[in-house]
Amino acid sequence: MKIAILGLGYVGITAAACLASQGHDVIGIDPNETKVNAILDGRSPIAEPGMDDLIARARDQRLITAYTTLVPEVAESELVIVCVGTPSAADGSHNMTHIAEVSRQLAELVKANSGSKLTVAYRSTIRPGTIEELIRPIFNSVLGEEASRIELVYNPEFLRESSAVKDFFYPPKIVIGTETGGRCIALDKINETVDAPVFYVKYRESEITKFVDNTFHAVKTVFANEIGRLCLHLGISASEIYEIFVADTKLNISPLYLRPGSAFGGSCLPKDVRALQHISRTSGGTTHLIDSLIASNEAHKTFIFEHVTSGLNHGSRILMLGISFKDKSDDLRESPNVDLARMLIAAGYQLSIFDPYVAPENLMGQNLGALSNSPFLRELLVGQDIAEGGEWDLVIDTRGTAGKYALQADRTVDVNTLD
Ligand SMILES: NC(=O)c1ccc[n+]([C@@H]2O[C@H](COP(=O)([O-])OP(=O)(O)OC[C@H]3O[C@@H](n4cnc5c(N)ncnc54)[C@H](O)[C@@H]3O)[C@@H](O)[C@H]2O)c1
Repeated sequence: MKIAILGLGYVGITAAACLASQGHDVIGIDPNETKVNAILDGRSPIAEPGMDDLIARARDQRLITAYTTLVPEVAESELVIVCVGTPSAADGSHNMTHIAEVSRQLAELVKANSGSKLTVAYRSTIRPGTIEELIRPIFNSVLGEEASRIELVYNPEFLRESSAVKDFFYPPKIVIGTETGGRCIALDKINETVDAPVFYVKYRESEITKFVDNTFHAVKTVFANEIGRLCLHLGISASEIYEIFVADTKLNISPLYLRPGSAFGGSCLPKDVRALQHISRTSGGTTHLIDSLIASNEAHKTFIFEHVTSGLNHGSRILMLGISFKDKSDDLRESPNVDLARMLIAAGYQLSIFDPYVAPENLMGQNLGALSNSPFLRELLVGQDIAEGGEWDLVIDTRGTAGKYALQADRTVDVNTLD
């Protein structure tokens, strides 16, 4: 395939060298003369294991060339991959100057060189909405109706520097964002030999992927270091704790506790997070991430209340399906659903609660205590017959099990998912 790479930094040079090593015919463009000359000399412009060899071989086989400005051959490519930088601006946002500039230059090149359809895949990290609100309008303004010749795709890059070549051939996943969420023939072709899960999504879902991943990597690092510092203060071996933590692939290093939905609650998480905060405070630790958890969880409870009641008339009849902190449990201690019920009553809604696992007459100990802390709950609990016999303005499904019951409702909101 004839492929043009715009921007020969870490991402661009890796794509150029790796694609050329697979036999593709690659043209690289970068205004930086030093980078272009290094490629023409068969050397890597960046320090990256394996890169010098790949570029030297690609040059010998005449599969890679480079220029400091766009050349007409770029418009004749089957695929253009944009890898220009998106550095931090003073306000923290990404500086989009290079993205806007390279898009305008490419659109003008296409205008000056009539040809067939061209797929342009952006690999730089760009905020959600950039293709639709910045890039597409640039192509439209330069090309007018001819802009339909351009297929815009977003294809985030997941490589890590120092293992970039390996990551290119063995990525953790491939994400392809298109206007409709459908497939992209040109990218499918270059990914034919790659063994990785492929996700075809619309532009915005693909654009946010990289932010989510990088932020999670940052959260993990900060969490690990806060725990490490805490261990150090307490005379505990941080590396032994790390080994024990990562060995748990059922609860710790797993998809659990990562789905956006309900706030955390129950008898353990809030209590133990608060207690770890206390340990940190009294042992001289500084644990900003851990200290932010309870406040963030409380903010999420308020968000859930606003989310479920949005557009609902004052005094509406609401059925809450599930009141304990999780399905198949009668534990009411620190249940976020009890907090939600409290907010709904305070806001003047007519609330009924059905939970097949919570019968007041069966509660004992701390659970009964939880019920006496919230005496209103006892009066609001209804059986399945009343839940199914009622006509509800809203059913709040805290379990994702509303489908199991014959409930009559104008609207059902599942708080296990925020979609
Ligand atoms: N470095 C990484 O590990 C990594 C990983 C994944 C994603 N990303 C993202 O990929 C993008 C590129 O990252 P990078 O580290 O390769 O950046 P970089 O700064 O190393 O390289 C960007 C290159 O683009 C060139 N450029 C600027 N304007 C141009 C134009 N109009 N035409 C052609 N080239 C132009 C610059 O001269 C520079 O060589 C960024 O958005 C980054 O966030 C980076």
